[in-house]
Amino acid sequence: MTQTHDRLLIIDFGSQVTQLIARRLRELSVYCEIHPYQNVDDAFLADFAPKAVIFSGGPDSVTRAGSPRPPASVFDLGVPILGICYGQQVMMQMLGGEVHGGKNTGGGGTAEFGRAYVTPTDASLPLLDGWFDDAREQVWMSHGDHVAKLAPGFDVFGTSPNAPFAITADTSRNFFAVQFHPEVHHTPNGAKLYENFVALAGFTGDWTMAGYRDQAVAAIRDQVGDAKVICGLSGGVDSTVAAALIHEAIGDQLTCVFVDHGLLRKDEAAEVVGMFRDHMNLHVIHADEADLFLGELEGQSDPETKRKIIGRLFIDVFQKYADQIDGAKFLAQGTLYPDVIESVSFSGGPSVTIKSHHNVGGLPEKMGLKLVEPLRELFKDEVRALGRELGLPASFIGRHPFPGPGLAIRCPGEITRAKLDILREADAVYIDQIRKHGLYDEIWQAFCAILPVRTVGVMGDGRTYDYACALRAVTSVDGMTADYYPFSHEFLGETATRIINEVPGINRVTYDITSKPPGTIEWE
Ligand code: XMP
Repeated sequence: MTQTHDRLLIIDFGSQVTQLIARRLRELSVYCEIHPYQNVDDAFLADFAPKAVIFSGGPDSVTRAGSPRPPASVFDLGVPILGICYGQQVMMQMLGGEVHGGKNTGGGGTAEFGRAYVTPTDASLPLLDGWFDDAREQVWMSHGDHVAKLAPGFDVFGTSPNAPFAITADTSRNFFAVQFHPEVHHTPNGAKLYENFVALAGFTGDWTMAGYRDQAVAAIRDQVGDAKVICGLSGGVDSTVAAALIHEAIGDQLTCVFVDHGLLRKDEAAEVVGMFRDHMNLHVIHADEADLFLGELEGQSDPETKRKIIGRLFIDVFQKYADQIDGAKFLAQGTLYPDVIESVSFSGGPSVTIKSHHNVGGLPEKMGLKLVEPLRELFKDEVRALGRELGLPASFIGRHPFPGPGLAIRCPGEITRAKLDILREADAVYIDQIRKHGLYDEIWQAFCAILPVRTVGVMGDGRTYDYACALRAVTSVDGMTADYYPFSHEFLGETATRIINEVPGINRVTYDITSKPPGTIEWE
């Protein structure tokens, strides 16, 4: 992609929190990329042309032979460098200082983990603007090794009881090195250090969604030429924004396929297809394959079998419709930056759960299609910002996530059309309640599950024998961990009454108060 913005390079030495550095910088409208140290050589540096470089932390010890290093030429680029924790130690050792091993590495040094306080020895350093107003700053330390002798040209600017060289700098070269992690929440004023660092490196905060949109549109045109592109729509935010962006770039050359497996929520297919066709004027094939999916799912009650059937059919159906689009050469996917980082990370290897494109996994190779992934550089909240920039309705951008297998995993046990219909109605009432009470945006995900049990009840003068349902609502940042949402008793009581009165087939409502872990968000 032709670059029109300044770029900052983060060299990753394997810290658990490297992604947070990128988050802090993007919040400052600074464009940055994370690359594992093995991928960074002289040619890479020349090509990337960073305006500044950050060395991340990492689990290794620089005192160990063969431990990770950046290429020495990085120090000759003439750009500011900030080293964090392991990055600080790498910098000191490569530039002529000394690092001693901590307890873990047999050197008997001073290990330090957790909260610590740094006091200034010289607060005039521009990196420290806005720091030390209260004499000391809380920081987060996590190191076994420590710097024992500074490299020539470096001075100390801040110190902590266990890290005499907590903040150091060679001001003539704009090299900075800190022992703690400014990117984590436990260093409350950490963002200010990044702000100061990018300001002195001359970044102007030119990374905006309006700019990104123009640049991405040009790049898509460049990549695709006059070829045709197909895109699988799920109704979720990522594929929607990807499709909208590609449509802006190449118009009618894009065809979207919306696979309707009959496991969608009430009115969902009509809403999604309506929005794309009417609001965005985009060419969408509505693949109504409910009979196929529900037919094959009949009699199946094992969760993994259900998922496998849906996954296999999804690929078959998508391929069937894609084959009808003459001359399609590209497949669009809503891959996000966290997926990209995970799949190149030297410590973790390829991610095991890349959810945004698991639905069409393996298809590009099978069909000989090339990928268009216009969101590869973005974090989830940036995708939402881009969606707003592209004029997508706010209600759509703020939608809760919805899983690929749809209501199948909210209907534990055997799936029947009758149960799905009941579930759709109950879910619609529940979501309506949440919206009416103004809680939708506070909740990461909310839904109803229909349980495979029937219970006895009494309505009016009669006995009922109907299904029980469970309400689920969780708060979460990324779906990896979650807490149940603390609804008031009034809300729960009112919702249960409404569901039982308005939804034939349900006579008992429960609220699921399991967090994740040990539970999962979905029931299957
Ligand atoms: P769990 O149930 O694993 O869900 O705690 C975490 C998040 O992932 C969603 N989810 C899926 N999304 N295909 C998807 O696209 C799937 O097979 C799938 N399973 C779970 C779930 O809705 C929640 O947001």
